[in-house]
Amino acid sequence: MTGIHDLLREDLRGSTPYGAPQLDVPVRLNTNENSYPLPPDVVAEITRAVGTVAAGLNRYPDREFTELRGALAAYLGQSSGVPVVTEQVWAGNGSNEVLQHVVQAFGGPGRTALGFTPAYSMHPIIATTLGTRWVDGLRGQGGQPFDLTAASAVAQVQAHDPNLVFLCSPNNPTGTALGLDVVEAVYAAAPRAVVVVDEAYAEFARPGTPSALTLLEARDRLVVTRTMSKAFAFAGGRLGYLAADPEFTEALRLVRLPYHLSAPTQAIALAALRHAEAMLGSVEAIKAQRDRIVDTLTSLGLEPVPSDANFVLFGGLADAAQTWHELLDRGVLVRDVGIPHYLRVTAGTPAETDAFLAAMAQVAPTSLRSTAPQSVPQSAPPSVPPLPLLAEERPA
Ligand SMILES: Cc1ncc(COP(=O)(O)O)c(C=O)c1O
Repeated sequence: MTGIHDLLREDLRGSTPYGAPQLDVPVRLNTNENSYPLPPDVVAEITRAVGTVAAGLNRYPDREFTELRGALAAYLGQSSGVPVVTEQVWAGNGSNEVLQHVVQAFGGPGRTALGFTPAYSMHPIIATTLGTRWVDGLRGQGGQPFDLTAASAVAQVQAHDPNLVFLCSPNNPTGTALGLDVVEAVYAAAPRAVVVVDEAYAEFARPGTPSALTLLEARDRLVVTRTMSKAFAFAGGRLGYLAADPEFTEALRLVRLPYHLSAPTQAIALAALRHAEAMLGSVEAIKAQRDRIVDTLTSLGLEPVPSDANFVLFGGLADAAQTWHELLDRGVLVRDVGIPHYLRVTAGTPAETDAFLAAMAQVAPTSLRSTAPQSVPQSAPPSVPPLPLLAEERPA
């Protein structure tokens, strides 16, 4: 008898779905959400906004979400200083959907996408589930473990001649922003590729970090993706967007499903954007916690990677999976991203940071790689967490 497994596409058989554990523990620092609830006046405005569209839900929403595109263009222009017009903006239910639209339109069977690992683990999943060949490019060719230099990126682009290149800045899970020289060099070296710069964490970057938005002019194959999930504290609202050449966004209309952004989604995103300053009010506080995490972990003998995001990747652990469990035992959930000796923690409220750092201080004496028992190999294989719930974890 034919089972579902036999009917499933061959390339999907045996795959595990993306997903970080959603556990009910006191301190959840594993998905780079913003820990701060929305300000009460924005909650009131969002509630009002839903109320105003509710009676009209018998009709389809504005398929072109024009008002929302205009508001996103205005936000990008104000925050980056780069003029952005409505026609340059596209949006979806989270930046994952926006990335999916890009791959649907410009990837697919017979085409190749290149990314530089470790980076955001959904990039290869979106590419391969849409039939695009994925090439795992390398980082760390410039001396530092997770560096991506222009020379290394260009050599890899030339070797693989991709149709799509994924860059991520600030990069998840490593946290560091890319120099624009890398973006410029990759763009120039890949004349037939769409170059995506995923800037999901841009608002958290350290001062002086320029956005790839500044490179959009005269580069019609360059795409900058953003999200309201992180700095805007709007992950549950599901609103991601991109800026690119108007002809590029026009092409995305070929692949989106009609009416993909519901009327409530458009209304609540518009309400949030009207209060952009208040919505972004937690960014500086989160950056302060991030920097505190880096400093304190360093003093504990760990090896945090410098971060431009709302999270910190830290190394120096003998056994990342074991430390992950020890932190969970203390009520703190962080992310095992599958990089041996490293874990990733989201910067949350001061109280959450207190809890995480207190737990780390307790476990550090027995967790550090240098103080590890002799039986722990120095080049341990990728940590395979023993709990079934972590079977869903993928390298990110
Ligand atoms: C680098 C990066 N890009 C995109 C996303 C997707 O975010 P969303 O779909 O919530 O906009 C994430 C989420 O963690 C991310 O880390």
